Amino acid sequence: MPDKSHQKRFLVIHGPNLNMLGQREPEIYGDQSLDDINAQLNKLGDELGLELEIFQSNHEGDIVSRIQQASGTCNGILINPAAYTHTSIAIRDALSLLDIPVVEIHLSNIYKREPFRHKSLIADIAAARISGFGAKGYLLGLKGLADLIE
Ligand code: DQA
Repeated sequence: MPDKSHQKRFLVIHGPNLNMLGQREPEIYGDQSLDDINAQLNKLGDELGLELEIFQSNHEGDIVSRIQQASGTCNGILINPAAYTHTSIAIRDALSLLDIPVVEIHLSNIYKREPFRHKSLIADIAAARISGFGAKGYLLGLKGLADLIE
């Protein structure tokens, strides 16, 4: 049994409607399901020696509560807040409570889309952001987050 006590632990958060990936506007978000993406994240996490907790919710308050629980237990957060990116002061405030790096992920390039998607309420508190690489963005983000906290 490997000793996991010194492993870095990252929380991955997927916001609303991302549970529908694969069926949801595949021309924008691709044809991989969230399970596919999570499997790739877990594989990379294993390769990098990381412990991942993956959480998806369609509810703003549940996401806020999950972020609060990360205090003192996680070394970093990878988050695609989905539509809450553009609206949620509550998620921004919860992330601001934590003293750990946050990487913001978007499957699509939000700046090539409707003007209401151009504003991110977490952009200025994120350590880094990835937008437009599709599902691969999560893997790039995980690798980048791991490098950040080395
Ligand atoms: C998204 C972009 C958001 O504008 C949208 O509401 C989403 C997904 C993305 O991953 O490209 O649900 O965060």
